[in-house]
Amino acid sequence: MSTPGLIQLDVHLTDADADAALRADVARGLTARPKELPPKWFYDARGSELFEKITELPEYYPFRTERALLTDSVADIARSSGADTVVELGSGSSTKTRLLLDAFAAAGTLRRYVPQDVSESALRGAVDELHRDYPSLALHGVVGDFTRDLDRLPGADPGGKRMIAFLGGTIGNLLPGPRHEFLTHVRGVLAPGEQLLLGTGLATDPAVMVPAYDDAAGITAEFNRNVLYVLNRELGANFEVDAFEHVALWDAANEWIEMRLRASRDMHVRVRALDLDVRFLAGEEMATEISAKFRTEVVDEFVTAAGFEPTRRWIDPDRRFALSLLTAI
Ligand code: AVJ
Repeated sequence: MSTPGLIQLDVHLTDADADAALRADVARGLTARPKELPPKWFYDARGSELFEKITELPEYYPFRTERALLTDSVADIARSSGADTVVELGSGSSTKTRLLLDAFAAAGTLRRYVPQDVSESALRGAVDELHRDYPSLALHGVVGDFTRDLDRLPGADPGGKRMIAFLGGTIGNLLPGPRHEFLTHVRGVLAPGEQLLLGTGLATDPAVMVPAYDDAAGITAEFNRNVLYVLNRELGANFEVDAFEHVALWDAANEWIEMRLRASRDMHVRVRALDLDVRFLAGEEMATEISAKFRTEVVDEFVTAAGFEPTRRWIDPDRRFALSLLTAI
């Protein structure tokens, strides 16, 4: 049984919204040169399962590095923050959520948790479970897209302040332009003094970074190709999924890992729902994801440009991941 007023779930993203966004992204991406598909469409049920598997791979260090770093620093983060509301963008990661909630509860400031995710079912499940384990915590779920629905986040309580957590290094999946737009948008919904806790992968040895995106078991390859199954199912496309090879490379000039799908031969693909015919030439590569790895100076630069002041930073001993507490100025 839930206490009235303690739990709320707002839905700002319907299946129809998601379908319209998918159509627009695919129409644009498949007619661009070079072709590209945005990474957000990896994450249907199968893609989310594959991502879970990726987090358990020996090569995929970012997930467990951030988790260990958070474990070691979260008490410090909570004390430095003093927020009474923790907002988590893309709140898929339940172990990290609990680390945050326990630490903010121990610091004595926590009153409310606001998880935001694109998946209504994932959010309902998370909210129900959290209510069982944190019965006095106010929970306000927001089903939405973090690049679009930020203005729908609940405001600060009177006298309170919010800390938005954006973990996982997902900021690295945004190109510099959209990254700046996103951070400016986040800054815009915060009042001065409110905070952002940002997880960023740090640039390290390519011999460490590349295998994390090209694992020996081929799980990341399946994850990458999964976007083609999504297009086949959702848009009546006829991609021959196995005719595309997984490519992962370190782009040293841009300081990002790039994933691509390479056509192994000439192909015609029809996307029925868009009445679109596209040609792939043998060897042609379609971009599917960038995952930028930063230097701390670069993080400071882009957060400052968006109106944040870097307040505190925690880095793992191998210097592969950073958590930055940023204050809106
Ligand atoms: C969790 C979205 C940040 O870029 O490392 C994992 C996604 N892509 N393997 C990342 C991902 C390929 C991941 N993010």
